Amino acid sequence: MKFSTKLGLWFFICLLIIESISMLVLHRHVVDSLVKEELNSLLARGNSHRDVLLTSITPDTIQHIVLMESNTDTEVVIINENGSVIDSSMQTSNLPHYIVKKSAETDDGVVQADWKQEAFIATVSPFRSEEGSTGYVYMLKSTNSLQKVIQQLNHHFGIAVVIIMLFLLVTNIFLIKMLTKPLIRMKDATQKISHGDFTVKLPIKTKDELGELAESIQALANHLNHLQQERKEFLASISHELRTPLTYIKGYAELGRKPTLEDTVRLEYLHIIHEESTRVSNMLEDLFELAKMDQNAFSIQTQRRNMEEFILPIYERARPAFDNAGIDLKLDVIKSFDIQIDPRRFEQIVLNLLDNALKYSSAGSTTTIQLNKRGDECFLTIHDQGKGIPEEDIPYILDRFYRVEKSRSRLTGGVGLGLAIVNELVEAHGGTLSIKSEQYHGTEVTILLRENENDTNSND
Ligand SMILES: Nc1ncnc2c1ncn2[C@@H]1O[C@H](COP(=O)(O)OP(=O)(O)OP(=O)(O)O)[C@@H](O)[C@H]1O
Ligand SMILES: [Mg+2]
Repeated sequence: MKFSTKLGLWFFICLLIIESISMLVLHRHVVDSLVKEELNSLLARGNSHRDVLLTSITPDTIQHIVLMESNTDTEVVIINENGSVIDSSMQTSNLPHYIVKKSAETDDGVVQADWKQEAFIATVSPFRSEEGSTGYVYMLKSTNSLQKVIQQLNHHFGIAVVIIMLFLLVTNIFLIKMLTKPLIRMKDATQKISHGDFTVKLPIKTKDELGELAESIQALANHLNHLQQERKEFLASISHELRTPLTYIKGYAELGRKPTLEDTVRLEYLHIIHEESTRVSNMLEDLFELAKMDQNAFSIQTQRRNMEEFILPIYERARPAFDNAGIDLKLDVIKSFDIQIDPRRFEQIVLNLLDNALKYSSAGSTTTIQLNKRGDECFLTIHDQGKGIPEEDIPYILDRFYRVEKSRSRLTGGVGLGLAIVNELVEAHGGTLSIKSEQYHGTEVTILLRENENDTNSND
């Protein structure tokens, strides 16, 4: 059975039960008040006859009362204290069995209220005259007319029930349709997703739970789409990055095998083969590292270090390479700080950033490593005056294999994994990496670490 049918049915059954119960209660209440009303008016009439009798209990008055009642749909029976009928507006043989002597003290006035089974409903008004004679004025009313009124009432109730039912049915169908339509759309969308089609569009804009669900499904689809795209690009990049150096290696190895080749040329070829194989092996190492980070099979072992003392040897080691390239490498400590870091990993971060500054700057420029601290925020900034990164490339610069130079020429350096690794490592330290750059002017990479961020997992 369809969900919408099931929901509709449940909804309808619940409403039906609620409606039936309330209708029954209402019906009972109306009938009860109707009967009560009749009994009250009967009793009032009986009481007024009794009051007349109390002022003068003469055969004339009694006859007058009986005469009065014989022209109405009510009957009167007047009984003396011994239980024998003094006078009655109906034939004594038709008198109901319950008309017997009653005790005035215990009486609430109603003698018969059963309008369903009995031929009459009845009330009694006992009296005791000043002369000491006592008796009872019984008032009776045929239940026929009451039954007719109630029958009519039932008929009206029946019509009302049918109308309400129809109304409920229509609103039910409408409501269920409204409720299940977005659900069906979402079901279709998730089915599409499960079949590998992530291009779903869910135009549900409501701000309720259904809207949130639709938004989540849409986000999931977009995410999966992005992942699929990324995987495709990733595989394409890997195969490309492997193919290029392997083609060189294969080519130069074949050339090097020629027996007539001069030794110096052969050495040069061997050098190229060595360089290219180092490149492949470095790339595989980087990829392996990233894979470990992705699987969370990677942990950092932090210890508290003074950043200035930590950075100084790295700076000294990097300087010759910068000198060679004619770039001035400076260390600018505005404010040093102590911080939790994994020394081996942090060195990898700094070396990678310095490698970029070196690769993408030209002679005569300056690269600065700057340390600073504001509040509990510690900054390590590497600023170069190199060629910069075009604005449109900055959002993607941390993606794996992303390079500004799409040509992937061997002269313009790496494979585009450096910053991806740096970013993962900075995040593992609980820090954030931000890159500001202006094309042809330079790049500024800032690592922000918080003083107490890694204290919990420190093991110094
Ligand atoms: N300091 C910088 N100045 C200018 N461009 C930069 C700088 N740092 C990075 N880039 C640009 O960002 C791209 C990605 O940098 P990333 O370090 O990830 O890769 P790579 O240096 O090309 O290769 P790898 O670091 O893997 O050897 C680079 O190709 C370069 O185009
Ligand atoms: Mg790099």
